[in-house]
Amino acid sequence: MPLDTSPTRNLALELVRVTEAAAIAAGRFMGRGDKIAADQAAVDAMRMVLNTVEMDGIIVIGEGEKDEAPMLYNGEKVGTGEPPEMDIAVDPIDGTRPVAKGLPNAIATVALAPRGTMFNPGPFVYMYKIAVGPEARSMIDVNAPVEVNLRRIAKVKGKEVRDLTVVILDRPRHEKLIAKVRRLGARIRMIPDGDVAGALMTAWPESGIDALLGIGGTPEGVLAACALRAMGGEIQGKLYARNEEELRRGREMGYDFDKVLTMDDLVASDDVFFAATGITDGELLRGVKYGGDYVRTHSLIVRGRTGTVREIFARHRIEKANAIAEPQI
Ligand code: FBP
Repeated sequence: MPLDTSPTRNLALELVRVTEAAAIAAGRFMGRGDKIAADQAAVDAMRMVLNTVEMDGIIVIGEGEKDEAPMLYNGEKVGTGEPPEMDIAVDPIDGTRPVAKGLPNAIATVALAPRGTMFNPGPFVYMYKIAVGPEARSMIDVNAPVEVNLRRIAKVKGKEVRDLTVVILDRPRHEKLIAKVRRLGARIRMIPDGDVAGALMTAWPESGIDALLGIGGTPEGVLAACALRAMGGEIQGKLYARNEEELRRGREMGYDFDKVLTMDDLVASDDVFFAATGITDGELLRGVKYGGDYVRTHSLIVRGRTGTVREIFARHRIEKANAIAEPQI
């Protein structure tokens, strides 16, 4: 399809101010052992800047319900109220524990898509995910055994399975999955948290990551879908019920836990915008650094319609940064 080259507004360029603000606010709490305070600071900063963006936005994916963390609420209206009408997914901190402990790979992230195009997971907080970068797009099937997926990914990348590196969240629920991947001989990059960054790494050639597998947050799955859609990768998922009660409730509400959630189900538009800013240093993004007079941030922004990926290194005057984030300590 020919690219529409007419210059139009790239909302991701405005979104980056939102994730920068959240990261600057959260970064002050690195290693201070208080993930709720870090999250609150990121949420407040994100809300403040989101409300300056010229759009009629509704939060469809407000992170926080899983662990009752501070949050931007589902259904909350943000932006100036003028068109365009957009759905918004936010995760002011993906990796609250890593921020609290000063561990790597925590990011602030937000995605926009036209109204009605984002998957609404309701109260169902977990999904099984498989994500890959552009080379292995169309080669994955969430219903196929792990060995089939890894062999296909290896083949299309001209590698052996043992050359693959797979990101998996380090959780007891992944014991069998990890054992299986080890038996197949692939390498594993076990992450303590942060599977949005994990999914994005598959589309980031320098990361050396080939796939993300396992059960993680549904909000994080939608955010990853927005980014991968724009970066040419792919994520597939399936909602995951933690118990019989959740399964029953989901069915009553019309959710199908056997349905494969494709990219189109997770975000049904190419007109998608995504931004992420590093809070702590990671493979994908550098963390926030505080100088005497300024604060440095590193962000990535992507736009679905054009597939442009930008990395933005910014210096913010310290007074401005402090106005966004003065921790209450
Ligand atoms: P938060 O920092 O927003 O709490 O999420 C961190 C995270 O690791 C996500 O990246 C991941 O999708 C989810 O938590 C996994 O959930 P759990 O920690 O319950 O296994």
